[in-house]
Amino acid sequence: MNCHRPFSFELSVRIEFGIGTVRYLADHVRSLGGRHALIVTDPGLVAAGVIPKVTAVLDATDITYTLFAEVQAEPDASGVVPGVELYRSEGCDIVISVGGGSSLDTGKAISVMINNEGHIRDYAGLGKLRHPGVPQIAIPTTAGTGSEATIWSVLSEKDKKIKYGVGSRFLVPTIALCDPELTVTLPPRLTAVTGIDALAHALESYVNKATQPISEALAERSIQLVARSLRTAVFAGDQIAARADMLLASTIAATAFNATRLGLAHALAMPLGAKAKVPHADVISILLPEVNRYNLPANLPKFARIAELFGENTNGLSLREAAELGVNSVEQLIDDIGSPRKLGDYGVTEAILPEIAEEGLTSGNIAVNPRAATIKDLVKIMRGCL
Ligand SMILES: [Fe+2]
Repeated sequence: MNCHRPFSFELSVRIEFGIGTVRYLADHVRSLGGRHALIVTDPGLVAAGVIPKVTAVLDATDITYTLFAEVQAEPDASGVVPGVELYRSEGCDIVISVGGGSSLDTGKAISVMINNEGHIRDYAGLGKLRHPGVPQIAIPTTAGTGSEATIWSVLSEKDKKIKYGVGSRFLVPTIALCDPELTVTLPPRLTAVTGIDALAHALESYVNKATQPISEALAERSIQLVARSLRTAVFAGDQIAARADMLLASTIAATAFNATRLGLAHALAMPLGAKAKVPHADVISILLPEVNRYNLPANLPKFARIAELFGENTNGLSLREAAELGVNSVEQLIDDIGSPRKLGDYGVTEAILPEIAEEGLTSGNIAVNPRAATIKDLVKIMRGCL
């Protein structure tokens, strides 16, 4: 723990966590002064019956709403403008986003663009938004992105093949309403990849150079919860205790990495998503074992501790052996749950690796990664995942 160094930790989100807690949604809307909500979500969740569960709660109250169910996977920034227009034309006074990272990131962007001029792209990077957004409630239906508690909104512009993160304290939802029951119908494959994304958030924050005592504590707990419950959530998704563990792991990992940023897996995930269209959680699952192997010598104590957090017995092992056990434990989990391992399965070829690496190097996650990396290193990491 690095208590000898100064650090900063901000947690402006109010986390309301509990099995069945979505039934108090109207109270939360009222507590923020809301009367008419814009509900931001994707058409799949409407069809799957998740959104009707949420709107039924509001139908029984005096809170009214307008549904904006237009969000697509790996959301495009072009979806923000119609959301803002609908919010204004319908006289909304609060944004409720329901879904995975795509819906939550879009809802967050809509919330701030109601009070900031121009295009959301103008605010790409960290700390550029000038004004707070309107009140927003984020309701996650996956346990992975942690978007309900982060300062980030990640958007694409598919016609330009670009993807960028907008980071600001103004993007943090006012309330994160975390109800594990809403994640129970998430299919095994999505449970697997999003769960590994959550693990990567905790792990990359935990081993990186910017970590600090509060983030470390949250990340350790998050890693433990994933190690304990991700297999159960994948193979027996109706087990609510495992779903609750995973949702908690995802939300607290997000609060950890807000303060620290991440590492190489997330640096490369942006350009691989933009140029090769590999979905975020898939690319993280593919890269994480190789990135861990690369980073291992730069932070043996942390990787050794990860082995312990995975419940491994490290007695009698050297520090190096224990650290390798930590890296192997993560890889074993990814294999056990059948999460993707190969970039080649998504059409990624050797030819585009230098371009991806070059763009990856511009990420703010590079500077905090435990081990410095050049273009050559990044290409080698990705080559190991082809
Ligand atoms: Fe992620």
